[in-house]
Amino acid sequence: MSESSVMTETVSTIYLVCCFAIPVLYLILYSFLTKKSKKKNFAKALGIAICLMIILFSVKLVLRLNIAIFDYPNCYINNICSNDVDDENETPKKNNKDKTSATNSTSSTNTTSSTTPKKVNPNAKVYDNVKENRGTKTDKGRTAKGYEIYEIDGVTYVDGFLIANKTYFLPESYAPTNTYNKANPKATQTCNNCIEKEVWDAYQDMKADATAVGLNIYISSGFRSYVVQNTLYNRYVEREGGGETGKAKADRYSARPGSSEHQTGLCYDLNTIDDSFANTAEGKWVNQNAHKYGFIIRYPKGKESETGYMYESWHLRYVGTELAEKLYNDGNWISMEEYFGITSKYEE
Ligand code: DAL
Ligand code: ZN
Repeated sequence: MSESSVMTETVSTIYLVCCFAIPVLYLILYSFLTKKSKKKNFAKALGIAICLMIILFSVKLVLRLNIAIFDYPNCYINNICSNDVDDENETPKKNNKDKTSATNSTSSTNTTSSTTPKKVNPNAKVYDNVKENRGTKTDKGRTAKGYEIYEIDGVTYVDGFLIANKTYFLPESYAPTNTYNKANPKATQTCNNCIEKEVWDAYQDMKADATAVGLNIYISSGFRSYVVQNTLYNRYVEREGGGETGKAKADRYSARPGSSEHQTGLCYDLNTIDDSFANTAEGKWVNQNAHKYGFIIRYPKGKESETGYMYESWHLRYVGTELAEKLYNDGNWISMEEYFGITSKYEE
C-alpha cells in the first residue's frame, strides 16, 4: 500500500470513530450539565445526537463520492488509471468513469482481488497484428536474429509482420485490401482512411482517448499508392537540388516508390508532419501511449543507421500490442530492424 493510501485509510478511520463519538459525547455532556433534565428534554437531546450522527455519516458519504469523481485524473487509456499501477503490489482501483469510447467498449472492466499480482495494463485491450495476405509463401531464409523471412505475392514478411523498407520493396501494384474505403493501387491522391480495418479501428480508439484528455490528433497522410509516393519522392529530390546529392538528402526522410510503408495501409502520419510535432502535447502523448493501441514510432530518434530514416515522431506503424509493447521498451524505442535483425539499405 502506498503512503497516500495509508494516510487516506487513517483519516477515514478517525472520521468514522468521530461519527459515533461526537454524538455520544454530546449526550454525555448534556446529561452531565443538565442533571435535572426531564425525560422530554433528554429525548430531544437524543434526537439531536442521532441527527448529528446522520449528518456526519452523510458528509463522509459525500466525501467518498468526491474521491470517486475527482481522484482519478488519468483514467483514460484502455480503462487504465496511471495511479492504478504505481505500487508494486497495489491492485487496480475501480475505474469510476463510465467510458464509452470504442477503446473501452470491448475492454474488460473487471477489478481484481487484493491477492492478484500486478500486471502490466491489467485491463488493457489487446490489438492483434494484421494477418498476412492470403497466397503462397516463398521461403526467404532467416534474419540475423533467426526470424523467418518469406514472401507472399512479392510482399515480404518477417515473423508474420509485413516489412517495407529500403531493403524490402513492395510490388508496384500492391495496395491493402481489407479496408473500409477502397485503396486504389493506381490512385494519384493520398487516401487517409484507405488503411487496414484493424489499423483504422485502433486509431479511432486512440483518437477517442486523446480527445478525452483534450488533445486533437488527426491523420494527415494515410495510404499512398506507388504513383503518389513516386511523385512525392521526386518532388523532394528536386527540392533538395536534384541529382545524386538531392537523392541522398531526400533518402533520409522520404521513401523511394515501392519502399514506403504508406503503400501498405498499416501506417499513417499524424498532425503536423515535421519535427515540431514531438514537442506538442499531442506528440508527447502519442509517444507515450501509441503502443497501447498497437502502434509504434516506426522511425525512432537516433536510429537512422537501422531504419534508414531520420526521426519521425508523427509516423505510426501498426503491429499490434504484443510487439508494440516490446518495441516501446519503456520509452526507449527499438526499431523493427534492430528487433528482427534486418537491414534497411538500398541496393545501389
Ligand atoms: N517518410 C517515410 C519514410 C516515407 O516516405 O514513407
Ligand atoms: Zn509517414
